[in-house]
Amino acid sequence: MENLLVEDDTINMKHKENKTCKLTPRLQLIADMVPAGTRVADIGTDHAYIPIYLVTKGIATYAIASDVRPGPVGKALENVKKYGLTNSIDIRLGNGLETIKPGEVDVIIIAGMGGILITDILTASKRVLNNIKRLILQPMIAQEEVRRWLAENHFIIADEALAAEGHKIYNIIAAEPGDEKIEKEIYYSVGKKLIEKRDPLLGTWLIKSINTMERILMQMEDKDSNNVCILREEFKKKIWEYEKIKKMIEKE
Ligand SMILES: C[S@@+](CC[C@H](N)C(=O)[O-])C[C@H]1O[C@@H](n2cnc3c(N)ncnc32)[C@H](O)[C@@H]1O
Repeated sequence: MENLLVEDDTINMKHKENKTCKLTPRLQLIADMVPAGTRVADIGTDHAYIPIYLVTKGIATYAIASDVRPGPVGKALENVKKYGLTNSIDIRLGNGLETIKPGEVDVIIIAGMGGILITDILTASKRVLNNIKRLILQPMIAQEEVRRWLAENHFIIADEALAAEGHKIYNIIAAEPGDEKIEKEIYYSVGKKLIEKRDPLLGTWLIKSINTMERILMQMEDKDSNNVCILREEFKKKIWEYEKIKKMIEKE
């Protein structure tokens, strides 16, 4: 995730020296899921590129760029100053959603962290989630746990997308308040929206995931503890389900 902001001729963001920049595909897809006219908090903002983009494009009316570490907060501040946006983007230092007051924003973005850390951040500050219109989450791993947390905490998945950068494919999940029954267990690991909308990267993501699980299965071959046996069966079932989805989307 090094090359997060690509300098480009396209006028996406303009800073004071008239240099123009373009978001990378992952950050762009996250930004695309933000409804227009909203107030946005980007938790774990690091460089603050998402808030800068959203405010520059007039998508967000106001943004908070928050991070737990002083280094990223300094970087965010530097970038926000560079783009002359200190009046519309607040930079905050603190853990998770502790920097946000209930009702202060409509949309919360948490991207580029592990799924468990994301769900821990959400669980620790449920009060802040009360008036939220949309959560946009991009877990690096454990997306299954994120979808499960959403279903168990009265959020429905409104949209999902996959973004490719280098060799990696990232899951981006947009959730809104509501309740829905998840009909099939497999939808926790392969987002139902990704299947329904035939996300162009779904086939590649399925192949990559199957390959990873097969590699792990091979490493477990000569181990026969109870836990390993359970895990092996779970992986085999998942591979079978992934293959089934792959065949279904390939048939069309
Ligand atoms: C890999 S960067 C992702 C940056 C950006 N969100 C993106 O997707 O490109 C993760 C950032 O999350 C921050 N972070 C980690 N744990 C956090 C927490 N509990 N609260 C706020 N920020 C956190 C880190 O300091 C780091 O700047």
